[in-house]
Amino acid sequence: MPAFAGMSGGDRAFEGEQQMAKKQKKATKPAKKSAKKVVKAAATKSKKVVKLAPKKAVAAKHNGNGLPRPSGKPFGQAGKALDGVRILDFTHVQSGPTCTQLLAYMGADVIKVERPGVGDITRGQLRDVPNADSLYFTMLNANKRSITIDSKHPKGREILDRLIKHCDVLVENFAPGALDRMGLTWEHIHKLNPRMIVASVKGFGPGPYEDCKVYENVAQCAGGAASTTGFREGPPLVTGAQIGDSGTGLHLALGITAALYQRIRTGRGQKVLCAMQDGVLNLARVKLRDQQRLAHGPLKEYSQFGEGVPFGKATPRAGNDSGGGQPGWILKCKGWEDDPDAYIYFITQAPVWGAICDLIGKSEWKTDPDYATPNARLPRLRHIFGTIEQWTMTMSKFEVMDKCNAVDIPVGPILSMKEIAEEQSLRATGTVVEVDHPTRGKYLTVGNPIKLSDSPCDVQRSPLLGEHTEEILGKVLGYSTSEITEIKGSGAITPQDKGSRAEAA
Ligand code: COA
Repeated sequence: MPAFAGMSGGDRAFEGEQQMAKKQKKATKPAKKSAKKVVKAAATKSKKVVKLAPKKAVAAKHNGNGLPRPSGKPFGQAGKALDGVRILDFTHVQSGPTCTQLLAYMGADVIKVERPGVGDITRGQLRDVPNADSLYFTMLNANKRSITIDSKHPKGREILDRLIKHCDVLVENFAPGALDRMGLTWEHIHKLNPRMIVASVKGFGPGPYEDCKVYENVAQCAGGAASTTGFREGPPLVTGAQIGDSGTGLHLALGITAALYQRIRTGRGQKVLCAMQDGVLNLARVKLRDQQRLAHGPLKEYSQFGEGVPFGKATPRAGNDSGGGQPGWILKCKGWEDDPDAYIYFITQAPVWGAICDLIGKSEWKTDPDYATPNARLPRLRHIFGTIEQWTMTMSKFEVMDKCNAVDIPVGPILSMKEIAEEQSLRATGTVVEVDHPTRGKYLTVGNPIKLSDSPCDVQRSPLLGEHTEEILGKVLGYSTSEITEIKGSGAITPQDKGSRAEAA
């Protein structure tokens, strides 16, 4: 049962802060006593000293910046990091749900509000099991509760207002203006619950494109990632990693936790905005770095430099070149003819150059002036990697990895999703988790990639549409049984036969 269930959320949030304040007070109590003594003693000497002495005494005695005393409970048994935080989750598709799932993994009570009869559009997208929630949905909505509310129905609005009073954070990733059109403006929310943090994902920040709807690949393109991904000779490429959606959700989760922390001091909520374009750019910042370096000469670590191909005005696509100062490339391994993933990423890191030469049978390169220094190697990278590849092609990627790691050469096997799914070490750490679901059966999902030693993550299946509607109305919002019956009859929580326009990201 989520923490604080059945209590008034707004009050609960306030109560949480009061408890924290009490704890802080308690922690500083003994210090006050001793401080008093210091004050008394000092008062006989000078008024100036009287003012300063207590602060010093408190700091020396507790050294905890006003924090409670360290818990005596074993690590992992002192609750979850976000226990007591309740989230009104108005998210859909991928970016927002990524954020709220992470917060749920860390212990927040996440209440997902969905349109009656329809729900998050992803429930039905890319379905692999008939009539069961898709993996698209189930892998992004673990550890949440689901309530159905028609936000445009007067009774639905009333329920939402009550939820706002009972929650700490509202998270949404609707199209620009949609929340306002529901009547849930910042002013309205802030008036109802001044402690509420309102967190949004939008495609673009304020500016010429702020009204645009945005999906993953739009963000990858607008954030600068696509223009710098792919091979020089080919078109821009998007990446399979969802840096626009999941990446921005991750940014938003960080913004929310920071706002929750600030609220402890200020007592009030704030708006948190993450634009997908900004999130992608943040992840692609090394390419903006290179853009500026271009003004001062060619980018020597890009293989196009060694090949004598002139640079244009913008950061070019660099294929599989390493993004850092250490040249790297993807090389074939044994079996590459049949296995599309029989490859390894090989980095010719300068400090281990000698070890590389010895391993691939080119010890003479260690002293050859054409190969001995990083600068000398730059125009020869293609030839060097070709030679290393002759060696890697004699072994499986895992054999290459073993041999290289033994002498500290950084390499990365190209792991297929099949290999990841079967990798036992990822299961052991809870990064890949098997979950059981009442309508679809067992499936794999990604657990919390952020490991907190005092807040272990226990992954729970995603909720069915509206599974917790009555529970939330009754136990969280305090509606009586007869009121719930009335709400059911009003049409505010039941299907209205409306379509939805959301498409797959
Ligand atoms: N009850 C009643 N109506 C609801 C509702 C509920 N519980 N939940 C949503 N709706 C309504 C909204 O109010 C909106 O109505 P309006 O257009 O009349 O104001 C409507 O559903 C559709 O919402 P919208 O967000 O516009 O969905 P969409 O399918 O048209 O667009 C996106 C989808 C993702 C393109 C858009 O939401 C978006 O750009 N979001 C921000 C960027 C983002 O997160 N993109 C990544 C998605 S992974």
